[in-house]
Amino acid sequence: MFSCVQSIGLFGMQTYPVAVETALENGLPRIDIVGLPDAAVSESRDRVRAAMKNSGFLFPNARVTINLSPADKRKEGPMYDLPIFISVLKASGQLSAETKDCAFVGELSLSGKVRKVNGILPMVIDAKERGLKAIYIPFDNAAESCIITGIDIYPVLTCKDLVRHLKGEKLIRKADRKQFPAFEPQNPEVLDFADVKGQFQVKRALEIAAAGGHNTLMIGPPGSGKSMLAKRIPTILPDMTPQESLDTTKIYSIAGVLSNHHSLVLSRPFRAPHHSISPAGLSGGGQIPKPGELSLAHHGVLFLDELPEFPRQTMETLRQPMEDGCITIARVSGSITYPCDVMLVCAMNPCPCGFYGHPTKKCTCPPHAPAKYLAKVSGPLLDRLDIHIEVPQVEFDKLSDDQPGESSAKIKARVNAARKIQQQRLAGSGISCNAKMTASQTRTFCRIDESGKKLLERSFDQLGLSARAYDKILRVARTIADLEGSENIATCHLAEAVQYRALDRKFWK
Ligand SMILES: Nc1ncnc2c1ncn2[C@@H]1O[C@H](COP(=O)(O)OP(=O)(O)OP(=O)(O)O)[C@@H](O)[C@H]1O
Ligand SMILES: [Mg+2]
Ligand SMILES: [Zn+2]
Repeated sequence: MFSCVQSIGLFGMQTYPVAVETALENGLPRIDIVGLPDAAVSESRDRVRAAMKNSGFLFPNARVTINLSPADKRKEGPMYDLPIFISVLKASGQLSAETKDCAFVGELSLSGKVRKVNGILPMVIDAKERGLKAIYIPFDNAAESCIITGIDIYPVLTCKDLVRHLKGEKLIRKADRKQFPAFEPQNPEVLDFADVKGQFQVKRALEIAAAGGHNTLMIGPPGSGKSMLAKRIPTILPDMTPQESLDTTKIYSIAGVLSNHHSLVLSRPFRAPHHSISPAGLSGGGQIPKPGELSLAHHGVLFLDELPEFPRQTMETLRQPMEDGCITIARVSGSITYPCDVMLVCAMNPCPCGFYGHPTKKCTCPPHAPAKYLAKVSGPLLDRLDIHIEVPQVEFDKLSDDQPGESSAKIKARVNAARKIQQQRLAGSGISCNAKMTASQTRTFCRIDESGKKLLERSFDQLGLSARAYDKILRVARTIADLEGSENIATCHLAEAVQYRALDRKFWK
């Protein structure tokens, strides 16, 4: 006796159809699972057998062979429990329902409950694109999958419920988007730029960074408010486009960090890993690599506080992905690419004591310590940061001022307007902000006049900038012009952009 049930496999961001075939033969009772299963898949046999018995079905007393096809692709994870369960029931004649146009995904508990699995969202999308009519998923994955329309999604609580549904005895309710609110990855703590006194220049720089998606470095003495400012960046980031939301939600689904009750990720992620994080934690790791912090920050912000404390190797991991917007991890089982289109924000002190270059306080470090400390941030990484901004200590009269500063909502409105202009200009090119423009796009969209060219020429001689810095200055100037609603890049926009590159000369001489 034979049966075949459809399921879906996942490798990184890639999904592929998996057919679960079961054959029953006469002979000594035993179960074999073939088709390159990993340990979790091989253990399926024990879970399925127990779940079947505990749900009131009979496990066939025969030689059972289960094949997961295509046989040349490694299958990982427990998500094949549910299709194996249905396949065995059908092969043993306990279920005769038609399942040609549907897929099954889910882990089983020994009692027959269907448990949550990672990566449901890309699997549901795959099933829909293959033209399947229905997909049966774990109940706890309903929230993340219900944003997809055009396919019937059935959240299943227990395998008994599923069998009753397939027999037409008691139908399961389809997943409904209205049941679930959107997912907010940030902490709900209410932060606002209005809390930060003074620091107008820094706030201005962060507004430009948020508007154009520019990588930013804040440098300054202890207690000047760097961490405080960075924590408030999420409150001024531009709204996500529907496509960006879906892209980020897919990664969260694969990483298994979406909660049971929330659907789409609607606000840009803000990830702030501690400096003890390993390179693999940042880039993604594991035998079948899961997304790391870099990818979890996709379309959002990756914040590295106390930058020089990050080991050199960890920092260098960032270089290639920041340029490409994606990270490829090679493993024996094949290479996996995860997107990581992030805005990098870093904060640091200029020396171990923190007061190097301070106008009034004296640096107490030994003579070579500041240079050694600054050298921990490599030139290539520094070069990738578009905006360098000094965060000075606020004066007492500004701190004691009771007037609240400008609210995040007001800043965000300006950022959103500037981002809209960029999205229209870059429509159809696959990117949505100035910071991600290619060299040729920079030439096309960042034209400057004669006086602008002169200014750049002078600054280049004085600051000794790299070719990459040249393009970055043009892109930042483009964002400054966009914030003003100006079509042309004026000399004042360029001058402001150049000023954000002048700082590395002060510290990294
Ligand atoms: N501009 C400011 N307005 C209001 N409060 C401020 C400001 N700057 C600093 N503070 C206060 O000082 C505290 C310390 O600031 P924060 O932790 O951001 O400093 P930091 O620059 O990150 O220092 P470190 O280099 O030691 O990490 C804040 O939590 C806040 O209470
Ligand atoms: Mg800090
Ligand atoms: Zn010092």
